Amino acid sequence: MTEPGTFQGLSATRRDFLRTSTAASATLGLGLLNNAHAAGSDVIKVGLVGCGGRGTGAAENICEAAGTTYNIKLHAMADVFPEHLKNSRESLRNNRHCREKFDVSDERCFVGFDAYQKVIDCCDLVILATPPGFRPGHIEAVIKAGKNLFTEKPVGVDGPGIRKVLAAYDEAQKKKLCVVAGTQRRHQARYLESMKRIHDGAIGDLITARVYWNQGDIWAHGRQPGWNDTEYQIRNWYHFLWLCGDHIVEQHVHNLDVAIWALGHHPIRAVGMGGRQVHDEPERGQSYDHFAVDYEFPGGVHILSMARQIEGCANNVSETIVGSKGTWNSDFRFTGAVKDRIRIQHETNPYVQEHIDLLEAITSGKQINELRQVAQSTLTAIMGRDSAYSGKEVTWEKALHSHHDTFPKHLAWGPMKEGAVPRPGSYELS
Ligand SMILES: NC(=O)c1ccc[n+]([C@@H]2O[C@H](COP(=O)([O-])OP(=O)(O)OC[C@H]3O[C@@H](n4cnc5c(N)ncnc54)[C@H](O)[C@@H]3O)[C@@H](O)[C@H]2O)c1
Repeated sequence: MTEPGTFQGLSATRRDFLRTSTAASATLGLGLLNNAHAAGSDVIKVGLVGCGGRGTGAAENICEAAGTTYNIKLHAMADVFPEHLKNSRESLRNNRHCREKFDVSDERCFVGFDAYQKVIDCCDLVILATPPGFRPGHIEAVIKAGKNLFTEKPVGVDGPGIRKVLAAYDEAQKKKLCVVAGTQRRHQARYLESMKRIHDGAIGDLITARVYWNQGDIWAHGRQPGWNDTEYQIRNWYHFLWLCGDHIVEQHVHNLDVAIWALGHHPIRAVGMGGRQVHDEPERGQSYDHFAVDYEFPGGVHILSMARQIEGCANNVSETIVGSKGTWNSDFRFTGAVKDRIRIQHETNPYVQEHIDLLEAITSGKQINELRQVAQSTLTAIMGRDSAYSGKEVTWEKALHSHHDTFPKHLAWGPMKEGAVPRPGSYELS
């Protein structure tokens, strides 16, 4: 078990030691291990929950971010499928950024639905990278335990989940915990510079925006012999509402987040449509293959959002913000009154930068807490999805106070009914 309050209660002296001693050891060419040994419990023990593609990537990213500046160890891992954990563990053990920071013993590998709690109990900083449906419960547990957090986006799939995350935001504020979310554009230098210029008036008053995540097909795993219903749904999580929230939530949240960032507010209502134009195979579960949503923001500003996962169409993953004097696009070009393209010579990979920002906040004691902003962006995506599913307008308040809790009442391996494909006109919003 870690010392209670290792981070949120970190004294100035211990914090300074953590940073300056690692910096000093770097200057002197000493390895991190020497420093970690000297620092004893000052090492930041990192735990990973959800050892798939992104979780493994995030663990690698935090090791690269730590480098010789921050004193971390990969300490514990959790998954519901032992082979996912095993593969991820092997990959991290041999990774050039992680090798020296890898300290995941057999006893600290946990499997099962309660595995996340065991990681939380023995770590100081937890990375959450399961399918999104588990996120609100896991976030709540991390913050309740007083641990720092890196959470992948989105942070929920329904209103009740988002309310849980907003409550965790408040609790994290009170406990002075640090939280960074996987909306990595917020940590990318060219986006940061773009937003600064937009907020400083480079394109005038903001009039509208267009945000797209239009791509080819996404993966789907057909059912295999021997899998029970729960196993099938979790292995094929992208296509079940309670696990994924559909691709407008899972993926398009990134682009919606940029629009909210630029406009400085969440939308007040959404009117959308969508459906399954191409994909109706059984392994597509409940998911749609396209969405188009009109979001209304305060002041009568409307933005157009589109998300599509169909092969052979025009792909476009981008954000465009239109102002009274010009336009900004996510290729970092300004047109109109100001004509410019933002160039930054050495931009750190945002997947690494987000962890640098988190580790810096933890060790400097300058709190960062991105839970509210990522909860808002996630709820925005949920509004658009629910409007498309139902064929009705969905307001911010309706989405936020929704009673539609999609998470199973009693989660266990075994039989689990599949939800129906949402049908506009008859899909119930509650
Ligand atoms: N920020 C980004 O750019 C980015 C990119 C990709 C994925 N993601 C996000 O990362 C998350 C994971 O995506 P992925 O592509 O790695 O998926 P994945 O399927 O590769 O990995 C998910 C892992 O979680 C495990 N898991 C499922 N339920 C669990 C539970 N209850 N407890 C512990 N482990 C559990 C699975 O077995 C699997 O190993 C998603 O929320 C996704 O939206 C973010």
